[in-house]
Amino acid sequence: MNVSRRNFARFLGGCATAATLPMQLYDRDVAWASTYNPSQKYLFPQGFLWGSATASYQVEGAAQEDGRGVSIWDTFAHTPGRVTNNATGDVADDFYHLYREDIARMKSIGLKAFRFSIAWPRVFPTGTGTPNPKGLDFYYRLVDALLEAGIEPYCTLYHWDLPQPLQDRGGWENRDTAKALADFEGYTAGKLSDKVSRFFTVNEVRTYIENGNLLGTHAPGLKLDAKRIAQMSHYALLGHGLSVQAIRAASKPGTKVGIADNVLAMVPAIDSAAYIDAARKAMREENAMYLTAMLEGRYTDFYLKRMGSSAPVFTAEEMHTIGSKLDFIGINLYQPNYVRPDASEPGYAILPMPESFPHMLSPWITLGPEILYWEPRLIHELWAPKEIYITENGTSSSDRLTADGKIYDLDRIMYLRNALMHLQRAAAEKIPLKGYFLWSLLDNFEWADGYERRFGIIYVDFATQKRTPKLSAEYYAQVILDNGV
Ligand code: GCO
Repeated sequence: MNVSRRNFARFLGGCATAATLPMQLYDRDVAWASTYNPSQKYLFPQGFLWGSATASYQVEGAAQEDGRGVSIWDTFAHTPGRVTNNATGDVADDFYHLYREDIARMKSIGLKAFRFSIAWPRVFPTGTGTPNPKGLDFYYRLVDALLEAGIEPYCTLYHWDLPQPLQDRGGWENRDTAKALADFEGYTAGKLSDKVSRFFTVNEVRTYIENGNLLGTHAPGLKLDAKRIAQMSHYALLGHGLSVQAIRAASKPGTKVGIADNVLAMVPAIDSAAYIDAARKAMREENAMYLTAMLEGRYTDFYLKRMGSSAPVFTAEEMHTIGSKLDFIGINLYQPNYVRPDASEPGYAILPMPESFPHMLSPWITLGPEILYWEPRLIHELWAPKEIYITENGTSSSDRLTADGKIYDLDRIMYLRNALMHLQRAAAEKIPLKGYFLWSLLDNFEWADGYERRFGIIYVDFATQKRTPKLSAEYYAQVILDNGV
């Protein structure tokens, strides 16, 4: 209260009231008020799909129920010292049992779509072989409940919960894992495609390969060298390509297949033609091992040259499979990289981030809402996909319940408002943006950060499973209602 009073006084240049204002200032304010339309919004295209996203291991819990097998994340989280406070996803949000209530909450926010993922070890407890019907039953129930609520299901088939028996046989270093993934995905999509029309093969190859096997901060917690990583990531891409084909072969005509990828997001540090050109080059080269390979069916010359003897071994046929045509591209966007042109190959440089660059609660989420504009634009200019979705965007926040029982997550609202303004700019420039999935609906198991980082627009008390919508849920509901910011 004090703060706004002080600002008000400063704005008027003193503690004046309307009665004592100099006439000139008063008139100008009246003129301004008559042209100002507080309901004027920057609108999104009609039918823009407002959604939210979660992932199986982060929310479901029920880790040992209905025949679910063990995944690498069960093993990792149950290894002391791997996850903050040794937290696990054994219970998480208990979404496995509470999904109906959560769908009612989605409906009251006005969500048009919900992106969830399938736990592979529920469907094939050991990764391959005989499916477990009870595992798939959960997803039938979930999809039916979403459809009843008028919410479109968007299904990610793989969001990191690799069955442990496949890891025991080498995980992504074993080429057979790619084939096992495609078998699981074809089977599951075939069963769901009567009711689900959009599938993502995988979520973020870069993260499950590099965090899991290079940095060791995610399951399975390995630290392998660059050559092994490059080969693994090649097999992971092959798994994606084989899955595209398996999903198409098994599901209803009209089913659409895409990817949810966390591109390294490039932003021209300055808005000039030369910088924009550099950002476009950086977008292609910095993602050469992942999205670029999937969209072009080849590794760029510069990538192969840069990797030298660590480059992956591959065949033309594998590259053809990896490049299987997609119906849409999903991108997960959190943090920017700023780019400038450079005379030497490959024609750009990524600038170091100043220490003072602002970030959100998770230090890795540096604030760069421009990525919501630049990434769709650069992807559109480079590869012209038919449809682009933002499959994840959001932030952690130090959410606290206040005495009045509310959570005023103003930093999350600030983050979202800025992001959506830039996204609107991209949509207004006719880039084929179809939807936005806010990460995340609920506070959940944030991987190695356990429950210490809250990303939800709905607060979860993990001791009681009580849900409380945060102020950001109200903010998002208003955006959806207005279809604008
Ligand atoms: C990812 C995952 C999500 C995360 C989210 C916040 O992008 O890492 O898809 O599961 O929880 O991104 O870190």
